[in-house]
Amino acid sequence: MSRLIVVSNRVAPITEGEPTAGGLAAGVMDALRQKGGRWFGWSGQVVPDMVTPPLPVVEQRSGSISLYTTDLNQRDYDTYYRGFANGTLWPIFHYQTELARFDWADFEGYRRVNGRFAEAISAFMTPEDVVWVHDYHLLCLAKALRQRGARNRIGLFLHTPFPAPAVMMNVPAHAELLAAMCQYDLIGFQTESDRLAFADYVLREMGGEARADGVLAVGGRAIRTGVYPIGVHVDMLRAEAEAAADSPQMQALRASLNGRALVMSVDRLDYSKGLPQRFAAYERFLAENAGWHRQVEFAQIAVPSRSDVQAYQEIRRQLEGEAGRINGRFAELDWTPLRYLNRSFARRDLMPLYAAAAVGLVTPLRDGMNLVAKEFVAAQDPVDPGVLILSRFAGAARELDAALLVNPHDEQAMAAALAQALAMPLQERRERHAAMMAVMRRNSLERWRDRFENDLRTPAALESVA
Ligand code: ADP
Ligand code: G6P
Repeated sequence: MSRLIVVSNRVAPITEGEPTAGGLAAGVMDALRQKGGRWFGWSGQVVPDMVTPPLPVVEQRSGSISLYTTDLNQRDYDTYYRGFANGTLWPIFHYQTELARFDWADFEGYRRVNGRFAEAISAFMTPEDVVWVHDYHLLCLAKALRQRGARNRIGLFLHTPFPAPAVMMNVPAHAELLAAMCQYDLIGFQTESDRLAFADYVLREMGGEARADGVLAVGGRAIRTGVYPIGVHVDMLRAEAEAAADSPQMQALRASLNGRALVMSVDRLDYSKGLPQRFAAYERFLAENAGWHRQVEFAQIAVPSRSDVQAYQEIRRQLEGEAGRINGRFAELDWTPLRYLNRSFARRDLMPLYAAAAVGLVTPLRDGMNLVAKEFVAAQDPVDPGVLILSRFAGAARELDAALLVNPHDEQAMAAALAQALAMPLQERRERHAAMMAVMRRNSLERWRDRFENDLRTPAALESVA
């Protein structure tokens, strides 16, 4: 079989055990570890502009994975990563139009880096290779590869939501971007509503035609679209939770909780994750449920992310203020109701934390999937599982409908869900947990990878329809 080349902006550290905050890197690494493959992306390093491209590509190996990485120079980082990818596309894809900034110079940088990636990949790609590209940083990569003569099968999986056409059209470069996406052979989405939003855009703006099998005929090409919800390794995560249940970290946690129930949230510190709304709901819960004072603690682990983008600096400042204010309002000498931690944890340390929590509070305003929700469920002890409170606006809500689903903008409903979760009888907790586990076992990470890869390798219905 021809080789698989995976491409993403962010790659996971190749040494096992290091934290990878971000669903893409965690998912791709787990998917590749089993089957092996080549993975190309940014090293995470930024070099001064006087180092001129092409920048060298460094190869590292770990078992059957070959990792190829390259640095970005400052100008490329500022325009492509900080500017267009994270200052324009990320907020637009998460429906935060008022946070989106646009500058043609950023878009030019985005095109340029997509071109540089294509250049670097072309150096080791053979005509038989199949290329699997990930996420919103690289929407123009297929086009850039095709401009360099590639006729390979190239697929894109979007880890984020895809917004409604009216939202997408706020981006001045939307037409070029969408036309570039049509150079892929397969585009995968987390949910059917993301897929429909894309198809809707293509049909309305580009005059294409949608076939019943998800193939879009547009501009003489056939682009297959499909829904591939990303999953987690259920058994591996539970095993990690069990293995470290009595680690020194967990003993210290239990001692400090002193029998109090733990409510737990884990996120990158991102405005799409709904942290201010979540803090407000917890505050309301405390205000309305004096009986729970001293009986509950909420731990919010929020690892700083993209901290040189202004919107991220602002949300961080806001949350620091709120955490201090809420503790100031309710804390006692021997009780801190909210613990706010700006650090990351290695996964083997995170899983027992999830398992120790009575409630997982996962309430993004918008999220492609949200793997934390799935990790939380997988880590639970099925005999005495914790309760998941999940935003309806996370892709995961489509599968995990046995969670307590909430609207993250509805403070009152979230406070009520907290009270309901903390008081939920054992039998109901078990039933909800079992229902979620059944779905997660079906939609495993292996299935995500295999279905996408098979569809990408299957040309029949995908050839030109001109
Ligand atoms: P996103 O991809 O937007 O960050 P996801 O919930 O899909 O959201 O994925 C986040 C991934 O990053 C999960 O695998 C989670 O375990 C990991 N993660 C998030 N925050 C932390 C943290 N503070 N420490 C360690 N891992 C984290
Ligand atoms: C989300 C995105 C990924 C990204 C990750 C971490 O999961 O979908 O593409 O890698 O966040 O963000 P970062 O900007 O640090 O790569």
